[in-house]
Amino acid sequence: MTEPGTVLITGPTRNLGRHAALSMAGRPDGHRPDLLLVGRAGRDLTAVAEETRALGARVHEIGCDLASLADVRAAAATARDALAAGAVRPLRALVANAGTMSPDTRRASADGYEMTFAVNYLAHAQLIGDLLGSFTAPARVVLLGSNTYHANFWRKLLHVPEADWADPFELARPATGEQAPGMAASGIAYSNAKLAILYYAHELQRRVGAGINVSVFEPGWMPGTALGRGAPKALQAISRALGRIPGASTPLRSGPLLAAMALDDTWAELRDGAFVLKTKLTEVQPIAHNPSREHHLWEATANLLKHAGEHNLS
Ligand SMILES: NC(=O)c1ccc[n+]([C@@H]2O[C@H](COP(=O)([O-])OP(=O)(O)OC[C@H]3O[C@@H](n4cnc5c(N)ncnc54)[C@H](OP(=O)(O)O)[C@@H]3O)[C@@H](O)[C@H]2O)c1
Repeated sequence: MTEPGTVLITGPTRNLGRHAALSMAGRPDGHRPDLLLVGRAGRDLTAVAEETRALGARVHEIGCDLASLADVRAAAATARDALAAGAVRPLRALVANAGTMSPDTRRASADGYEMTFAVNYLAHAQLIGDLLGSFTAPARVVLLGSNTYHANFWRKLLHVPEADWADPFELARPATGEQAPGMAASGIAYSNAKLAILYYAHELQRRVGAGINVSVFEPGWMPGTALGRGAPKALQAISRALGRIPGASTPLRSGPLLAAMALDDTWAELRDGAFVLKTKLTEVQPIAHNPSREHHLWEATANLLKHAGEHNLS
């Protein structure tokens, strides 16, 4: 077994991320990583830091609003400093767990980008890019995917929209004008951001070389988490009710599976953006492999990150 070193996880304050952090901290001596918890500063971040410390982990909290690239860069610098100073063990894994589904696609991040694309995708591309030189091989980057990027019978029945890919500058542009009622636009933005993560995973692996393995985790549908917190109240109530159906995925059950992606020998050789649905290595749909889109997304991302706040996308 590789010495577990340090794991950085984003979005540890609730649900999937919190249970993944608790699962990592709860491992026995010799298998327990140090933790860098990157989340919005406040009570929830302090609480999960205390809970994970109580389980025996060495923990650093890094306050960061992923809707601000300046905050993300500062968080990366704090993580780099902690690693360089030996305040935590070598960085072996980064789990890009934080996510959101903005209920209004006109909402912009601090940098002027559409909120769902900015938080799920751009913030993590910035964070990972800033930390690439700080990993110690063998290392892992685990990204959070979602099967909503493509439609199937159930998703059609539940009106969960699939991705509708567009040029990345379009995806980064907040909507304008009247927002159609319902969650369709938000759902498409979410699915597009998750498809971007699949494309990014493939391109990242091509560019980082041998020492870092890139994979994508899908926790299964976990109805009732805070992801849908901006949805109409009735929809949230239905979602919470669905979450109580026996067999539904839950953060409590999927959190440890996410922790396993970062730490367990089972997944040590997983790379190339391989996609794991809970515990099952799964082939993605053909739409999720597109080297030309992947290359273009990489270039566009570099531009969006470099010129954050300067693009006149509205
Ligand atoms: N729920 C599902 O069915 C499902 C299915 C497939 C994939 N996923 C993916 O799994 C991951 C976790 O989902 P979840 O259901 O646990 O979601 P959740 O309950 O909404 O938790 C999301 C986490 O991301 C953090 N976050 C959101 N916006 C942030 C921001 N601007 N800055 C910093 N942190 C921010 C939240 O922090 P705060 O506590 O500060 O809000 C929270 O810790 C996401 O990437 C999601 O897309 C979920």
